[in-house]
Amino acid sequence: MNYNAKAGDPSKQRAPCLVLGVFATRKLSEAAKSVDKASSGFLTHILKKGDMDGETGQALMLYDLPNTLCERVLLIGCGKQKEYSRAKHNEAVAKAISELTGSHAIEAIFCLPALATSESDLYTQLRDAVIKSSEQSYRFDQCKSDPKAPKRPLKKVTLLVTDRKNLKTAQKAITHGQAIASGISLAKDLGNLPGNICTPSYLANQARQLGRKSPQLKIKILEEKQMEALKMGALLSVSRGSRQPAKLIIMEYKGGEAKSKPVVLVGKGLTFDAGGISIKPSPGMDEMKYDMCGGASVIGTLSACVELKLPINVIGIIPSSENLPDGDANKPGDIVTSMSGQTIEILNTDAEGRLILCDALTYCERFDPAIVIDVATLTGACVVALGSHATGLLSNNDALADEILSAGNSSHDKAWRLPLWDEYQKQLDSNFADMANIGGKGGGTITAACFLSRFAKKHKWAHLDIAGSAWHSGAKKGATGRPVSLLTQLLLKRSKQIS
Ligand code: BES
Ligand code: MN
Ligand code: ZN
Repeated sequence: MNYNAKAGDPSKQRAPCLVLGVFATRKLSEAAKSVDKASSGFLTHILKKGDMDGETGQALMLYDLPNTLCERVLLIGCGKQKEYSRAKHNEAVAKAISELTGSHAIEAIFCLPALATSESDLYTQLRDAVIKSSEQSYRFDQCKSDPKAPKRPLKKVTLLVTDRKNLKTAQKAITHGQAIASGISLAKDLGNLPGNICTPSYLANQARQLGRKSPQLKIKILEEKQMEALKMGALLSVSRGSRQPAKLIIMEYKGGEAKSKPVVLVGKGLTFDAGGISIKPSPGMDEMKYDMCGGASVIGTLSACVELKLPINVIGIIPSSENLPDGDANKPGDIVTSMSGQTIEILNTDAEGRLILCDALTYCERFDPAIVIDVATLTGACVVALGSHATGLLSNNDALADEILSAGNSSHDKAWRLPLWDEYQKQLDSNFADMANIGGKGGGTITAACFLSRFAKKHKWAHLDIAGSAWHSGAKKGATGRPVSLLTQLLLKRSKQIS
């Protein structure tokens, strides 16, 4: 999809379709009023018929409005004006895109009601519109033999602003929105691919492909032999049960000054998690192909950095492996030595994410990071605690936690902080090793983060548990691309591209 911004009077636009908002009950938005006036009250006349009264979720396509240059006018219900929020605006955008996808219009001019008048709100609203419409047109049909693409897909969206002086902000919103949207779409594609295609080697190749797009992005892949030399005993123990070789994917984006410390993003890249010898129950096990969504979100975020040429240094680290039962797999009771030298008693082989992440966290030390954020589909307990709306956040640094919470709010990709108190650390005591890999009953998301914290002591570090937010189950089964928006927001802010 092609996006652009334009300033002008809604009633004077020429396009296959003009999208306007109507509030409940039958209340025209400002832009709709101007079109109504130009067409001698045509919209008022139509609304009086009662087919559309402006409730959220409603849409009405009109043709050949008198005295206008648009072939179609699409009215979108925006709900009560007093309740018109960012979420409602996003819903309106999604509804418009789905109506347009079924129509023959290949271009549309969007003129939905403004939320507020301040510049930054305009930026957010337009950026949201780009991200939302791209999400709404997302399709995953790589694995269908006969993909049914829409016959006349929407090709161009123009976002109309009323004032020329807002054009610069609008252009910035579109540029940022497009980079975030393509990062999300890449992360979704990788997440949706099945485990037999999206293996650790596949992920490594995807990283290499991204590296070819920019001289600022260098890709290094560590093979098992090199990980052995680094004594990554925890990561390698997970991979031992799999025929696919593990990979440690390192993506170094140098957009900032040489001496400025990098932001390091670590993403769990477990391409299929059967649980290992502590095997998972069969129902729903297919969803464990999504266990690499943390890694996918790191790749998606780096793709946004590349696209925007962000002036900042960012390093992505993705430990990637499968977790399968096998004669050579980890067994409950096995003790392994991590790269940090700390020993781990593996009481449950299904708690493998922390085993591959802990060595990756130790590996980060060589980059002297400004901050380290790991992203992982780490615990079912996080789904129980927060459901799918919030990503779980745990951190050893309050300022970093606040920065992440605020990036989550601004990008509508929200996180919620859980405590990382010392009291929970005791749950990881082991009779035989330095620690166990599970924390027993209660606080599963917290004890998983406690485990990771023992490998992140040298960093300002935060952990994002995306077990609930990374994909949808049920009829809408599919990856969400979260938290690409949150992470890119944080990087846009750190690199002073937005205030
Ligand atoms: N990948 C899973 C976490 C997960 C479970 C994500 C369900 C999304 C939905 C992780 O590797 C895992 O299996 N965690 C265990 C930990 C337990 C054994 C302490 C879990 O959450 O059950
Ligand atoms: Mn597991
Ligand atoms: Zn897992």
